[in-house]
Amino acid sequence: TDLILIHSNKLNYTTLDNKHIARLIASGNTHTHTHYLVIQLNGKLSRGRYQLYTEFTGELADDLAGLYRSEYEEEGVRKIVATSQMHPTHARKTFPCFDEPAMKAVFYITLIHPIGTVALSNGNETGQFAVTQTKFEPTKKMSTYLLAIIVSDYTHLYIRIWGRRAAIEQGQGNYALNVTGPVLDFFQSYYNISYPLSKSDQIALPDFYFGAMENWGLVTYRETNLLYDPVTSSIRNKETTATIIAHELAHMWFGNLVTLRWWNEVWLNEGFASYVSYLGADHAEPTWNLILLDDVHRVFSVDALVSSHPLSSKEDSIILPDQISEQFDVISYSKVHRHQKDLMYYMTGYLNHFAYSNMIGNDLWQHLEMAVEANNVSLPHPVYDIMNRWVLQMGFPVVTIDTSTGKVSQKHFLLDPDYEWLIPVRWMKSGVVQRNIWWLMEKEVVNVDMKSGSSWVLANINVTGYYRVNYDLGNWERLLSQLIAEHQVIPVMNRAQLVDDAFNLARAQLVSTNLALRTTSYLLVETEYIPWQSALNNLDYYYLMLDRTEVYQPMQDYMKKLVTPLFLHFKNITSEWTHVPDRLTDQYNQVNAIRMACTTGVTECQKLTTTWFKQWMDRPQHNLIHPNLRSAVYCSAMAAGDEAEWEFGWSQLKNATVASEASKLMSALACTSLLCFHRYLSYTLNPAMIRKQDATSVITSVASNRVGQGLAWDFVREQWEYMFTQYGVGSFSFASMISGVTARFSTTAELQQLKEFEREHSAAGFGSATLALQQALERTTANINWLQQNKQEVLDWFNSQTGQEMH
Ligand SMILES: *[C@@H]1O[C@H](CO)[C@@H](O)[C@H](O)[C@H]1NC(C)=O
Ligand SMILES: *[C@@H]1O[C@H](CO)[C@@H](O)[C@H](O)[C@H]1NC(C)=O
Ligand SMILES: *[C@@H]1O[C@H](CO)[C@@H](O)[C@H](O)[C@H]1NC(C)=O
Ligand SMILES: *[C@@H]1O[C@H](CO)[C@@H](O)[C@H](O)[C@H]1NC(C)=O
Ligand SMILES: [Zn+2]
Repeated sequence: TDLILIHSNKLNYTTLDNKHIARLIASGNTHTHTHYLVIQLNGKLSRGRYQLYTEFTGELADDLAGLYRSEYEEEGVRKIVATSQMHPTHARKTFPCFDEPAMKAVFYITLIHPIGTVALSNGNETGQFAVTQTKFEPTKKMSTYLLAIIVSDYTHLYIRIWGRRAAIEQGQGNYALNVTGPVLDFFQSYYNISYPLSKSDQIALPDFYFGAMENWGLVTYRETNLLYDPVTSSIRNKETTATIIAHELAHMWFGNLVTLRWWNEVWLNEGFASYVSYLGADHAEPTWNLILLDDVHRVFSVDALVSSHPLSSKEDSIILPDQISEQFDVISYSKVHRHQKDLMYYMTGYLNHFAYSNMIGNDLWQHLEMAVEANNVSLPHPVYDIMNRWVLQMGFPVVTIDTSTGKVSQKHFLLDPDYEWLIPVRWMKSGVVQRNIWWLMEKEVVNVDMKSGSSWVLANINVTGYYRVNYDLGNWERLLSQLIAEHQVIPVMNRAQLVDDAFNLARAQLVSTNLALRTTSYLLVETEYIPWQSALNNLDYYYLMLDRTEVYQPMQDYMKKLVTPLFLHFKNITSEWTHVPDRLTDQYNQVNAIRMACTTGVTECQKLTTTWFKQWMDRPQHNLIHPNLRSAVYCSAMAAGDEAEWEFGWSQLKNATVASEASKLMSALACTSLLCFHRYLSYTLNPAMIRKQDATSVITSVASNRVGQGLAWDFVREQWEYMFTQYGVGSFSFASMISGVTARFSTTAELQQLKEFEREHSAAGFGSATLALQQALERTTANINWLQQNKQEVLDWFNSQTGQEMH
């Protein structure tokens, strides 16, 4: 060839040659979509080894991609961190390279940096030459996206948790330090491979687009995800810290040691890391009894759309950087197949076999098959046959059980009925777990003797399978009666699942909306977190669709009635709000109780939160509101308050030294019912007011307020071009911004606006939000239909539930 193609983005070349004297015909951004630097040589290369020598410059911009600039203030002094985010396609913005995960290499890194700063990278420091030059041990053989280089004046703890000096001195890194040891120990024994590197650094950055990034040996985090302040952070913050650390450390083996071959199989890295992160966090915090349900519900909701995608697609369908970014969605992260748990025990041989290289899904199935045979496990189908159906087909099945005929069958939920899975169905009858598992396959129907009578059948025990379940009406009625009579007979996970399945089956018109709403009636006697959370998640959709209509008030009245006993329950078990409940799930549900009671107008709740907030305003140095309750209390006080509350909240946000506290204030400011939205939205374009990393979350918070929704959408429409160019490079969050501001769309006028928006900006494009925009269009159309078909029924139902006692 006489051409060299190498990835390069936003770099300016001052010297580019080799011993054969190349002539540069194109450079830098010539191909802005593919990021190729194209070097035309004078003659053809022949077989042999060549060196390419380049000198180049790039800007240390605040664009959160490649090697970039992050700033913060400490003791009145403005400080700068030079840090990096290479994943997935930004190493090329730092230096020219073959920026593909399968092209693994050993990297030799030396950094020249200002006096008084410390330089970090993936490897251990091997020496410091003068005070300004740090050299690192060569890395292991690894992918470009895992590189990290950071220059800062940070300080650190032992095992090295790095952060702003003030934050580390205040002890905000201690919790991360405490969990890192146990989590690493757990993974070493789980994978049966010792930690592959000679050191482990974790660092918290003021400006960081993603939650965290698993750079090998130097993991980077958003401050809220690594730092934890026992005085102001909530138990939820603590759980987030533990699970995200566990997720990133899981990658030190799965993802870094063994890497996906190409970005069409992101789930290989992310799905498994998400799955085992719960095991790691559970090991570090055994009393929490962590659960996976939130994840499952989130992915169900996206995976039910026509615009969903299979876990795995063709390699050559994912080429451009934007297409790569788009792969990192909830499906790749959370479509965990919990029924494959048993197979997971055999992962070790697999990891050893592919260490320091790459893999594809089929390699995994082959290895699991060998392990299954070696261990004499009997499966009715080959591993690849079971697994490929989950990976290559998008969506998931609904299993229908007809207790009157004994027939059990499957069908693709919502979509193409031709898809089929191989499903192990675990079930119980009238509270007794049944031993025999139904392997539901192909189009066939399993005929089972259910001897129904007055007994009921419940499938997908503890929600270990990735599917929904529907029943004949008689069985649904018996299940509802059981919930009202003695709900504890049904496992708590399944109480949550019955609600979630019913609401989603109703969306797909497989059961009536009425039936779905009736599953919430028993919540009058429910105090457990998971079923409540499940109901609230589903009713969220009803709020989105109906909170600008006449259904709003009857719905609020009904919810007020449901939540009042829960509010009193927590008042009781916390001895009038003076104690913290012991169980993690109770701590979470206490937040739900307060949030719902206050927003539905329980006077006692509103008094409570405004009093607490007033006390804080009177003595800003003494915030006595319990950290767990702060989000709910701030939001409630902001909704009830006026300018004084808002200004106070804003000044506390500007003054906050703990990132998680700032983040609570940031969403609470969007709870106001005043029209401060304009000002707040405009701050998102000014990094001195709202950090770039937080801009989308502020915009979506405003949009989630029924008063702010329209303004947020107008704002996004007006500013799209500007945001896209200013914020485009490192961002995944355009997708969540589009879904956020369009979540309420349910009228033909809004659909029209969305189509116009698509047309108007088709030239600039939508980058990583392209898929999200398609989903928004699809969702809006579905919402319009849903409203037409259900509004009256829902209004009637809520009306029938209030003004009379319910039992
Ligand atoms: C890595 O560096 C640290 C600090 O300089 C040192 O304590 C440790 O022994 C080094 N580890 C290896 C394997 O060189
Ligand atoms: C379901 O989960 C609960 C704990 O959440 C456990 O006690 C029970 O044994 C599980 N049931 C089955 C059949 O796995
Ligand atoms: C309050 O809690 C106590 C025990 O913790 C219980 O006996 C009592 O019934 C509860 N009262 C209410 C109204 O829930
Ligand atoms: C801001 O924080 C500083 C230091 O924590 C404190 O002294 C000051 O009073 C705070 N200002 C307000 C308005 O709370
Ligand atoms: Zn990950």
